Parts: sequence; structure tokens; C-alpha cells
Amino acid sequence: MAIVGAGPAGLVLAHLLGRCGVDCVVLEARSRDHVEHRVRAGVLEHPTVQLLCDTGVGDRLRREGLEHGGISLRFDRADHRLDFVALTGRSITVYGQQEVVKDLIAARLAAGGEIHFDVGDVRLAGLDTDRPEVAFTGGDGVQRVLRADVVAGCDGFHGVCRPAVPAGRSRVFERDYPYAWLGILAKAAPAQPEVTYAHGDGGFALASMRSPEITRLYLQVAPDEDLAAWPDDRIWAELAARLATGGGAPLNEGPILERGVTAMRSFVVEPMRHGRLFLAGDAAHIVPPTGAKGMNLAVADVAVLAEALERFFTTGRTDRLDGYSDRCLRRVWRAEHFSWWMTSMLHLAPGADPFERRLQMAQLRYVTSSPAAATSLAENYVGLPYGW
Ligand code: FAD
Ligand code: DHB
Repeated sequence: MAIVGAGPAGLVLAHLLGRCGVDCVVLEARSRDHVEHRVRAGVLEHPTVQLLCDTGVGDRLRREGLEHGGISLRFDRADHRLDFVALTGRSITVYGQQEVVKDLIAARLAAGGEIHFDVGDVRLAGLDTDRPEVAFTGGDGVQRVLRADVVAGCDGFHGVCRPAVPAGRSRVFERDYPYAWLGILAKAAPAQPEVTYAHGDGGFALASMRSPEITRLYLQVAPDEDLAAWPDDRIWAELAARLATGGGAPLNEGPILERGVTAMRSFVVEPMRHGRLFLAGDAAHIVPPTGAKGMNLAVADVAVLAEALERFFTTGRTDRLDGYSDRCLRRVWRAEHFSWWMTSMLHLAPGADPFERRLQMAQLRYVTSSPAAATSLAENYVGLPYGW
């Protein structure tokens, strides 16, 4: 089994396959240090937490992860809490993606697994045969060829696996959004106890955290925003304005440890398979980050793929592999809808007219006051079951 990419998708897949004795090699373009320190997502759905804990990589997550029973939607300068535990019996856990990645790499290497970091020039061939090849240049500069039974394309949105599918054999669905997120990680105590999505006239803002000392904050900005135009003072002033409530300090300031601008996009390729190549995670689909689905979808894909591959390698039966794409896409499209819906409800579209603004407010009031609407948001946010 050749796995291209050591992000959450590739590493969880290698971990699950390793546990059932399937021989797999992971190829990663970046260094171990780079992938272990790349700041990205932070909210784990209930099924993601369960999978990591049930398969033996949840010790630090249980110790250091922040289990939250809900989130807040902040509008009209007040918090409107959604109590996920009361609505669904489930919670979410705030734990940085790079911490999940660290735990998975450590577990895989401790189990004797093979991960090649710093590889270059990855090329796929023979995907229509039952012995595909993955050529690559190792970190030592030596060119090698892996002959595998199956290749998993877990190399993210900008990887080489999806483009290896011949033209005309797949179909793409996509949407761009007229805004992006400017995200910071700061050494400051979170000012609110739970993840808080704020909607207002100045635009969207999100207040999250990584620990009792570290806060993670985001601002809606223009899609082509230049980070250089955002000195620290401007970031803090804009966050304070957008997160303001009727009472209490909206945030605590501190040194900014990391900053970046993330584009917002919806994207799905169908099918998530070509011959012996199976695409998973961001290689197959992207969601805008409102709703925190990206990393969770990557884990869900490979949970389905690992089960199908275990059956294939132990019995030779291909039925589950044949059903992989359809089974994943059903849940992927549900998450695509949820992420698009959360994004549209919370952001301020450039040029939005008063009609659209009234619709947004009507929807925000509805999801925070109707138990039926609140439950719908909650069950999507905490994560639908993998068989959904
Ligand atoms: P990735 O994590 O992208 O992993 C792919 C891996 O493949 C990478 O390690 C990459 O280096 C490697 N790779 C790429 N090309 C090759 C190649 N040719 N050969 C070998 N290896 C290769 N989601 C949220 O829910 N909330 C957020 O706040 C959020 N912020 C984000 C910020 C950024 C900048 C990005 C890019 C994504 C963000 N996401 C967020 C989305 C979330 O992080 C992703 O959905 C998640 O990382 C998907 O995991 P993955 O394993 O499929 O892909
Ligand atoms: C975080 C990221 C998200 O995309 C989101 O919707 C909520 C929280 C975070 O980084 O903590």
C-alpha cells in the first residue's frame, strides 16, 4: 500500500492499516518538523475523537484536549449558546491538528511503520493496472520506485494524485467565496469558554483557543488580503470591534505567535477513485472552514477506506473498495452543504443588500431559539456517524 501525504488523512490511514497488518509506506513532501508545526484546524468532531481514542492514539488528546459541550453564536452584541450535549448527547474537542499529526507520527514510527519525509518528484503510473507504481526521490536524493497493490492519494488540495486522474474521468464541483480568513495564534488566555462565531456589521470573526494560555482568532478579510496591511494593532482593534458584546472584555491581547490568510473554497471531485488510486481528504474535497469540517472529513474518508482495504487484503473481495467513493460522497456532500450554509449565514458578503442581511439575522435567531433548528446545527457540528 502506498500512501502519498502525511497529513491527517494519510497518517490515520497508515495507523489503521498498520493495526490490521497491511504493509504500507507513507511518502511526505515536507519535513517531519514542518508537518508537526503547521497550524491549521482545531475542532475535532465526536466520531474523530472516538476513532483516535478507540485505536490507541488518544492518550494525549484525552489529557490535553479541551472537551466542549457547545459553541456560541454571537450577534446583536450577545452570546447565544448552543448546548450540544443537551441537543445531541455529544460534545466536540478542541485539539490542534498538528498535535493529532504529532501523535500519529509517533505511534506509527513506534510501531515500526515507514514514513519517508522530504520526498520529491512523486509520480504515479499504472493506475489502471493491479500493480500501480509510485516513483519518488528520497530525502537522500536517491530515486526509488514503489510497486503497490493500491495507492492512497492523501496529498491535500495541491498534491499530485488528483491531477494523475486522466482528463474526462472525473468531474469537479466548486464554489469560491468573496472573502478569506486571517487567522492568528496568540499567547493570551481565551476570553470566552467555548468556540464563538461572531456575526456583525463589521464582518465575521471567530474566537477559539488551543489551551488555557493560547487563543486562536480569525477575521473575515478580502480574498486577496495582504498580511502586510495588518500590523498587530490593526488585528487587535478589528477583533475587539467584531467580538464586542454588551458586557465584559471581548478578548485578551498577547504576543502573536503565528498568522496567515486562508482562502475559502468549496470543491468536490467525483468519483474519489480512479482504478487503483483512492483519493481521501483535501485531495478529493475542500470545505470553507466555518463549521470546522476539513480535518474531520479527511479522517472520516480514511476510516471508510481502511475498512474496505482490510477486506480487500484479507479476502481479495473488492465490493467495499468499489463502494468507497459513493459511501464517502454522501457524507462529504452533507458536510459541503453544512459548511456552505454556516459560511453564508455568518459572513458579510461584499455588497450584501438589506434583504440578505435580514435573512441572515432571521436564520441566526431561528437556529438559536428553535430546538429543532438548533438540533440540526448541533448534529452536523458534532459529526454525523460514518455510516450516514
Ligand atoms: P493535508 O493536511 O493538506 O495533508 C496533505 C499532505 O500531503 C501534506 O503534509 C503535504 O505536505 C503532503 N503533500 C502534498 N503534495 C505532496 C506530494 N506531491 N508528495 C508527497 N506529499 C505531498 N480546517 C478547519 O476545519 N479549520 C481551519 O481553521 C482550517 N485552517 C486551514 C488552514 C490552511 C492554511 C489550510 C491549507 C487548511 C485549513 N483547514 C482548516 C483544513 C484542514 O486543515 C484540512 O482539511 C486537513 O488538513 C485535511 O487533511 P489532509 O490529510 O487531507 O490534507
Ligand atoms: C477553529 C477553526 C475552525 O475552522 C472553526 O470553524 C472553529 C475553530 C479553530 O482553529 O480552533
